[in-house]
Amino acid sequence: MKVPEAGAEVPHQPVLYQQILDYLRPTSPGRYVDGTLGAAGHALGILQASAPEGQVLGLDIDSSAIAIARKRTAAYERRILIRHGSYSDLADHLREIGWESVDGMLLDLGVSSMQLDTAGRGFSFLKEAPLDMRFDERQSVTAARLLDTLDQKRLVQILRDYGEEPRANQIADAIIRNRPFRTTTQLAELVLAVYHGQRGKIHPATRTFQALRMATNSELERLSQGLAQAIQALRPGGRLAVISFHSLEDRLVKQFFQRESRDCVCPPEQVICTCGHKATIRVITKGALTPSQEEIAQNPRSRSAKLRVAEKM
Ligand SMILES: C[S@@+](CC[C@H](N)C(=O)[O-])C[C@H]1O[C@@H](n2cnc3c(N)ncnc32)[C@H](O)[C@@H]1O
Repeated sequence: MKVPEAGAEVPHQPVLYQQILDYLRPTSPGRYVDGTLGAAGHALGILQASAPEGQVLGLDIDSSAIAIARKRTAAYERRILIRHGSYSDLADHLREIGWESVDGMLLDLGVSSMQLDTAGRGFSFLKEAPLDMRFDERQSVTAARLLDTLDQKRLVQILRDYGEEPRANQIADAIIRNRPFRTTTQLAELVLAVYHGQRGKIHPATRTFQALRMATNSELERLSQGLAQAIQALRPGGRLAVISFHSLEDRLVKQFFQRESRDCVCPPEQVICTCGHKATIRVITKGALTPSQEEIAQNPRSRSAKLRVAEKM
């Protein structure tokens, strides 16, 4: 199946598109969940591959993504159900639509090109905008509000843990001295000042913006909840594919897969098992799969993508 090409008709180019279809192996009349629908790039592939009766449940917490996905999947209206909600509430969504189990699920984490490129969303420091960064506009806490209210310790933790920011302490101190912050450029300039104007290969504000986005949207917490519910929802032989763009996300997925694929999760020094844990999945991918050089050249935003796939026992 041909990878959709970027252009006016494709607002976000799906990453590792063919690999997702190869691993999820959509068939008719299977039931599939795209937990991060975005512009429905992957969902369209799943709908085509599972014709004539395959069904897709598409979830996204961003109402503008939902609107775009609805338009792009209009021809498949009969086979796709689109809901404005989080994959971390998967069990509730499935119960509400009456699906007892699913044959496959995709999580393509992080931010879409539409979100990055829409100045008003505040995801990019290259564009002057209110410091918003919410995926879901129904949420009350924005990135600006977080910066206004967090104490120094928590700010350092966020910058260090989510951004791997080496100057987390200095940036947190500077934020506290200079708040409130209202715009993206205000924050980007402050980080640049902490770096005395020195730009390396990447703008020094990249890590701060990533960390703040992850904190604003509770991304890691939602991922943990979503993974557990996805495994629960899969029928035996069903597969979960996760594409991550951040080392912390990838580590979380890797460790979750490792744990769930083991019969015992007692500490290694313990001779006799007392946990009673039973493996629920088999890990299909050996290590993480990454995009080819060709894909990266065609879509530079794919460069940090990592794909892991597990199959329900
Ligand atoms: C990288 S994009 C997905 C792109 C999509 N696979 C495609 O091909 O067009 C990630 C999407 O996940 C959404 N998202 C982030 N966190 C979410 C969550 N907890 N639940 C549902 N959607 C979420 C974002 O709003 C964004 O639209």
